[in-house]
Amino acid sequence: MLLGVTGGIAAYKACILARRLVEAGAHVRVVMTRAATRFVGPDTFAALTGGPAYTDPFEEPGAVLHVRLAREADLAIVAPATANVLAKLAHGMADDLLTATLLEATCPLVLAPAMHTGMWEHPATRANVEALAARGARLVGPEAGPLAAGDEGPGRMAEPEEILRVAEEVAASGRDLAGVRVVVTAGPTWEPIDPVRFIGNRSSGRMGVAVAKEAFDRGADVTLVLGPGTVEPPPGPRVVRVETAEEMRRAVLEAAEGADAVVMAAAVADFRPEAPAPSKLKKELGPPEVRLVPTPDILAELGAERRARVLVGFAAETDDALEAARPKLAAKGLDLLVVNEVGRPGTGFGAETNRAAILAADGTEEPLRDRTKAELARAICDRLAALLRPSP
Ligand code: CTP
Repeated sequence: MLLGVTGGIAAYKACILARRLVEAGAHVRVVMTRAATRFVGPDTFAALTGGPAYTDPFEEPGAVLHVRLAREADLAIVAPATANVLAKLAHGMADDLLTATLLEATCPLVLAPAMHTGMWEHPATRANVEALAARGARLVGPEAGPLAAGDEGPGRMAEPEEILRVAEEVAASGRDLAGVRVVVTAGPTWEPIDPVRFIGNRSSGRMGVAVAKEAFDRGADVTLVLGPGTVEPPPGPRVVRVETAEEMRRAVLEAAEGADAVVMAAAVADFRPEAPAPSKLKKELGPPEVRLVPTPDILAELGAERRARVLVGFAAETDDALEAARPKLAAKGLDLLVVNEVGRPGTGFGAETNRAAILAADGTEEPLRDRTKAELARAICDRLAALLRPSP
């Protein structure tokens, strides 16, 4: 649990929150802004949590502290959250340890604002709060009551007990895939021409890896079937390394036995050389004739099995993305189809963000424009959780 404390008088109540979190069994790491240290000393939090309270990004020589803190956190709470930190978080600023950590973190975020009424009601703060809530941050409070300097009105930080209750709710809802077995594929496949050459594609594996990480963080038992030359797999999921479409097929079919969902994010080669040469082809022999034959369509094979299993396919389209993708949903027997627009700068393979949409077998279409792969992974897991939730 990451507890961020910013500079407001309510910082003293963050001490009570830290104590309650520890009592509730959380392992609490505190990050304070410089302004927060004017209200409460880091040693107070250190004594309450049994670990250091950090303020300086360069505190641990040789370590990238904000990255470590971000990765360790299952949940982040900022209490009190000043108007200033809300503005910085809304705009992606990272000029101190707390904002840098929260920009890197992908865990759920709970914000407990505390400020004067005028600041809370200012259109700039309203817009920042709306932007943060739209990105999934959970706001708790503020309440109306006595404020600093003898004033009264909305802006008082929610009580520590209330923040704890919301944090527990968010932490529990964050594990909505607990007990679910998910198979995720990622990356390209390499189809050999000879022992050194292959036919491949530009897939980085980032999308599938993001889905695997998100599903794992939400409590799923995840098997990640990962193609060659991809980004590092996240810690947690079981990783099965494969190279060709046929190897991926075998790994997926084996892992899919008893799985509740299969997410085929891999860019499986559609064709492979019919007869790879057993030894390296020599240049002197001239350009080889490479005859291609289709690879097994793993997704179609899973779709044809008609098991009680959620099946998610991906489609990379360059033109008329939705139009081109719609028929694939029924044709491959899918529950969800994630349509990615590729071929434009900043989208698709290797890019950080995707222009995407999720088409569902129930006819709904959810457009997801300019999402990072982590955000898209979250949207996919939201749909998985909804489909796998036992009907009341
Ligand atoms: N897929 C698969 N096995 C293959 C090829 C693709 O399981 N041999 C899966 C991919 O993982 C992806 C989806 O099928 O989820 C992509 O379907 P595909 O029909 O290959 O679509 P595109 O390659 O996007 O488009 P096109 O058919 O137009 O080439």
